[in-house]
Amino acid sequence: MQTDPSPMRSAPSLWSRVTAVTDYFAFPLRTSHYVELVNPLWARHSLQARVEKVWDETKDARTLTLRPGVNWRGHRAGQHARLGVPIGGMHYTRTYTISSAPERDDRCITITVKAIAGGRMSHHLVRNVKPGDYLPLGLPQGDFYLPDAQPVKPLFITAGSGITPAISMLRGLIAQERLPDTAHIHYAPHEFDVIFGAELRAMAATHSRYKLNLQLTREIGVESSEARHFSAAQLEALCPDWREREVYACGPQSLLEALERHWQGAGLSRRLHVERFRAAYAGVPADAVGGKVSFGKSRIVAQGDHLTPLLRVAEDAGMNPPHGCRMGICHTCNTRLLGGCVRDLRTGKLLNEVGAIVQTCICAAAGDCEIDL
Ligand code: FES
Repeated sequence: MQTDPSPMRSAPSLWSRVTAVTDYFAFPLRTSHYVELVNPLWARHSLQARVEKVWDETKDARTLTLRPGVNWRGHRAGQHARLGVPIGGMHYTRTYTISSAPERDDRCITITVKAIAGGRMSHHLVRNVKPGDYLPLGLPQGDFYLPDAQPVKPLFITAGSGITPAISMLRGLIAQERLPDTAHIHYAPHEFDVIFGAELRAMAATHSRYKLNLQLTREIGVESSEARHFSAAQLEALCPDWREREVYACGPQSLLEALERHWQGAGLSRRLHVERFRAAYAGVPADAVGGKVSFGKSRIVAQGDHLTPLLRVAEDAGMNPPHGCRMGICHTCNTRLLGGCVRDLRTGKLLNEVGAIVQTCICAAAGDCEIDL
């Protein structure tokens, strides 16, 4: 158990009363801005977290232990939070699932990040962030968590870094000593790619109610690689009572789509709960084209293809536009269309009305266009 990072946390009313006076002298800033200079975790006008520890889970996945500031409120197992990182003078934000259980007693949380190809921020977090760094943090969000009336027989289906919400739930259930009859199918290319591999195996060895099925899709073995990917036959073999289970799934788009088709076909869609790391895209016509993207306020012009979100086009052009979730949920990236045409990648719908709201994280150029950034 570690001590509370803030002496003010236990007496918010006293703190409010004190700052009601000191804010008067701190104007135009607030007392919190000066407190932040002493310890960024005590600031009340913003939320930051200090990196306490970094731990390599696999060759390209790392767990960061973060101590959030006083504004933090507890999360529910499975939720995510936004994390900011300055890289090369630009500020980037991404959303990461909290991999620790809420029951952790040192007031720290962990996030587990996998470095993805072309992922600026994930590479930075996995390679460069070190203990002692302070990172801007958002409050926990998301509705992918176990209900209070806990499912009697959960089935987790996860792949790659999609294990993160599931491990938070599993750790929480074990900490509460409420682990029900739980089945878990996890996909990873190789043994050495399994994030939390040792912990999952230890859980399976020590908790008879937890049945782990690791599917190593690229490991050399008797079965073909295809046979180790999700299929109806595989599900039937690994978890014959899947129809009776409440399913929590997280992983790549292809897996989630296959699961959605399968559960829909069985008339059991309401039993399937999925968490996505990016918005589901609708099909884009084969003849779709990108175009020149003009950023009106910045007077920057860049080339955007028909599948690259305008947010990414702007960042690649050296801009730092506002953004949050990067998957069409938070609307932080909203701007207006000043001309031309863009496509909403989630629906495939074209937007060409001047003044229309454009979510830059899920819209791509559909010909030349101009947006108000
Ligand atoms: S960044 Fe959240 S909706 Fe675009």
